[in-house]
Amino acid sequence: QTPMDQTAKSSVRALPDAQTVTSVRHWTDRLFSFRVTRPRSLRFRSGEFVMIGLMGDNGKPLLRAYSIASPSWDDELEFYSIKVPDGPLTSKLQHIQPGAQIILRPKPVGTLVLDALLPGKRLWLLATGTGIAPFASLMRDPETYEKYQQVIMMHTCRTMAELEYGRELVEGLRDDPLIGEMVAGKLHYYPTTTREDSARTGRITDNLSSGRVFEDLGLPKITPADDRAMVCGSLAFNHDVKAVLESFGLNEGANSEPREYVVEKAFVGDGI
Ligand code: FAD
Ligand code: A2P
Repeated sequence: QTPMDQTAKSSVRALPDAQTVTSVRHWTDRLFSFRVTRPRSLRFRSGEFVMIGLMGDNGKPLLRAYSIASPSWDDELEFYSIKVPDGPLTSKLQHIQPGAQIILRPKPVGTLVLDALLPGKRLWLLATGTGIAPFASLMRDPETYEKYQQVIMMHTCRTMAELEYGRELVEGLRDDPLIGEMVAGKLHYYPTTTREDSARTGRITDNLSSGRVFEDLGLPKITPADDRAMVCGSLAFNHDVKAVLESFGLNEGANSEPREYVVEKAFVGDGI
């Protein structure tokens, strides 16, 4: 055997959970999305995350948590990713092309699932940055609209370009043959920017506390009787939104104990 054969064999052996990249789209110099083949056996609940990654230079898998952005009925899996310039994984992952392989550990977990909330009338999805990924899954799942009369997607980024992935997704949903009719009139999309002027501006926390979002959308103020929420952003964002939701009387739930809202980190750290 040549050393070449050995390398090829060991890399195949070391990639038992390999999936093939089917498409890649770059949204900004800091954001991209990609789709991969879905393992036949993979079942997940919309909103959950899995560990994905690449083989590291040391021959060990380099894995990170990623929310599955596609809905549970989709044939493929979609992910929406940051590009951290010096990030161990994303400095490499940002260069993947269709046909490349990634590692995907097929063990989905997470708290941003419909089962972790008590029944309610309205579902508030609150995200900053890549925190929209789990909601990209839930917004495309018919079950979300079966369970709630209204679904409100609040997404905040610094600039309009960073909102584009979510905007295109929501616009596509309205024309979707499978889910378009369910979505019409039920899904309210409330994108805001904080460091660039746009149609709507301001932090999610401020737009909730001031009541501006309720006024703009013609919805009643959040109450524990009718409203449920899912939160996904930086640690600071999650911390501050929790305080606002608690001020409306909502309590945090979990898979084991459904309540009025659930939270998950969009990433660990202070942001870049
Ligand atoms: P890391 O060493 O992991 O991160 C370096 C630094 O970059 C971090 O300390 C942080 O300051 C910053 N950073 C990392 N991720 C982000 C981010 N998403 N947005 C802004 N700043 C960030 N990342 C995604 O891009 N998409 C997802 O769907 C996603 N889902 C996640 C779900 C969970 C439950 C958790 C815990 C994390 C998730 N992440 C997601 C973050 C992801 O796991 C990695 O941190 C990210 O891919 C960067 O990896 P890295 O090795 O390049 O850098
Ligand atoms: P701002 O520009 O006012 O800081 P980042 O790019 O830093 O991860 O932030 C993503 C978005 O989340 C930005 O629009 C930012 O607003 C907002 N944000 C950051 N921290 C908080 C927080 N603690 N509460 C509410 N919004 C936040």
